[in-house]
Amino acid sequence: MSWFPERQTNRTWVHRMCERVLKSGPIPKHIAIIMDGNRRFAKKKSMDRAEGHLKGFDKLAETLEWCLNLGIREVTVYAFSIENFKRSKEEVDCLLELARQKFARLLEEKELIQKHEVCIHVLGNLSLLPRDLQELVADAVNLSKHNTRAVLNVCFAYTSRDEISTAIRELAEGVQMGMLKESDISEELLEKCLYTNKSADPDLLIRTSGEVRLSDFLLWQSSFSVLAFVKVLWPEFSIWHFYAAILHYQKNYDAIQSVKQSNRMNVDHQQRESDYQCVLKEVGKTLDHTNCQILVQQYAKDRQERVNKFLECIESKRDQFFDDVAKKRS
Ligand code: FPP
Ligand code: MG
Repeated sequence: MSWFPERQTNRTWVHRMCERVLKSGPIPKHIAIIMDGNRRFAKKKSMDRAEGHLKGFDKLAETLEWCLNLGIREVTVYAFSIENFKRSKEEVDCLLELARQKFARLLEEKELIQKHEVCIHVLGNLSLLPRDLQELVADAVNLSKHNTRAVLNVCFAYTSRDEISTAIRELAEGVQMGMLKESDISEELLEKCLYTNKSADPDLLIRTSGEVRLSDFLLWQSSFSVLAFVKVLWPEFSIWHFYAAILHYQKNYDAIQSVKQSNRMNVDHQQRESDYQCVLKEVGKTLDHTNCQILVQQYAKDRQERVNKFLECIESKRDQFFDDVAKKRS
């Protein structure tokens, strides 16, 4: 099965009506999915594991179509955790082979991805992947990078703790190299160093299979997401489960918005307070209100410039990874 449908599949007037009803409420802009339960599904249906994972991929393709129909423009999926490397060699090989086949298929169907204008990001510690898979991933990312209608983030060789520790290491290096001051490090800056820095946080996170854990997936980014734990195995996830998850999001929408808003205000306040303290430290005495405001504004402007330069540097280092992979092949 392709990643994206060539034409609409099995969409009836009932689906259109449900979509219209749901669209009268808030629709998440970004959803994240932990596609759990492929092996249990395989066991239940007496299939081998590889087939269970293949069914899992088919369900992903179906779900992407439901998302596009509902106007959800960004989807992030947990396709392979760093922890998954600890599974048997046979299963790891099978999951990597599935990824090879699907990324190769994506490249064969260039027109489809351009037609749907989907930009694909692959997020994770990609250096852990075999070289040939890195090349396929790099080609898929490069091929789709200018598409803007929708975004699919595939988390591969990913865990949140690895993502956060990588970000912290990069910040520490920035300070060591003199690009950043220690006081520039803030929640906001750390967030911009995560692999997901091009995306807003997910509004809704769905996990199938009845497990009620996040399993090291988007721990930072899901602080204000509505969580939907669905009691079916991923290949059994139906459009009705999908609609129910959207309704669950809509029911919790107001409460989450107000928590998000108060967090945003807190973050801004913390930053202003930090800039003020840095100015006081530099000047070494108390200042009258007007002078203080001017100095704090100037300090904030300089800090922003430092931070922007640092972030550009990280970004080009990440882009370089894909260019290097492509170059080494030729
Ligand atoms: C979790 O079920 C699923 C995975 C570890 C793999 C998910 C991968 C896909 C659905 C294919 C995606 C591929 C690409 C290229 C995007 P599990 O294996 O933990 O099953 P269990 O919970 O029943 O043990
Ligand atoms: Mg599992």
